Amino acid sequence: MGSDGKVVRIARVSRVAQVPAAPARRKAGVRDRSAALAAAIRRAKQETARRMAVERALEKSERHYQLLLKESIHMQQHLRHLSHRLLTAQEEERKQISRELHDEIGQTLTGVTVKLATLKKEAAANVRGLEKKIASTQRLLERSMKIVHQFARDLRPPLLDDLGLIAALHAFMKQFTRRTHIPIGFTAFAAVEQMDSDKRTVLYRVVQEALTNVAKHARASRASVSIHKAGRGVLMEVHDNGRSFHVERVLSAKKFTRLGLLGMRERIEMVGGVFAIESSPGKGTTVRAQIPMNGPPRARELRGVK
Ligand SMILES: Nc1ncnc2c1ncn2[C@@H]1O[C@H](COP(=O)(O)OP(=O)(O)OP(=O)(O)O)[C@@H](O)[C@H]1O
Ligand SMILES: [Mg+2]
Repeated sequence: MGSDGKVVRIARVSRVAQVPAAPARRKAGVRDRSAALAAAIRRAKQETARRMAVERALEKSERHYQLLLKESIHMQQHLRHLSHRLLTAQEEERKQISRELHDEIGQTLTGVTVKLATLKKEAAANVRGLEKKIASTQRLLERSMKIVHQFARDLRPPLLDDLGLIAALHAFMKQFTRRTHIPIGFTAFAAVEQMDSDKRTVLYRVVQEALTNVAKHARASRASVSIHKAGRGVLMEVHDNGRSFHVERVLSAKKFTRLGLLGMRERIEMVGGVFAIESSPGKGTTVRAQIPMNGPPRARELRGVK
């Protein structure tokens, strides 16, 4: 082959080689793009699957959370129901013990006192020693009777059932001031007596506990109890001018060794009411109970009561 032929060949070869180059590159490009597309689709599918799995997991945990929430609400209601029954049973039991103390033991003691008085008169004529002994026994019995009456009143004041809340509170406060020398201002509105006996008992027990706390902890020089009409309910406040305390700390204490404040809250909430307590230095402590007359209170009526 001549050098011309070589040139021609080379030229041909290069032509032959160049002619299929463009479609091959296109094909390769298409292949690359298809592969990239396929990879992107694969990734998109994987991402979709991952997201669906996450969504399913979220739905599952949401369902689980809803279930737990439902269970906890149910348990809370159950607990409230149980403590309601407990407090009602306790109140009934107190009523019974109070009656027994007052009627049975009180009357027996009165009988003994009367008999001793007669005996003392008879003995006065002849035996002086006997007269003295009888007189001291008589004093002992009188003291026991006072204790029994006091005990019966504290357990369940008969006035609460017979004459109503206001009379029972008056009597309790009179006793309280006599014992503690802390004067109490008292205002109330008569319609409070139209409330259910359950609710009036709650108000009585709250005053009893709040004032007992005033005597025990506050070192106050005076206190006040007020019962107002508030919307369709009743707002009761027990205030003292004594030293303050950290309310949150006491209410959130882990150990349930102090039951007064917790018991007040439980009793008030049990009858659909709202409990609040405020205490600040220089201002003393105010316990508030807002209780609906009939049915649970409306949100609007509770405004202003923290
Ligand atoms: N009016 C008040 N003034 C000052 N501190 C008070 C007053 N009321 C309550 N506290 C404080 O709050 C605490 C809790 O009161 P709470 O009535 O729950 O328990 P307690 O009176 O100590 O015991 P109890 O279970 O016999 O009632 C008290 O120990 C006291 O420190
Ligand atoms: Mg107390």
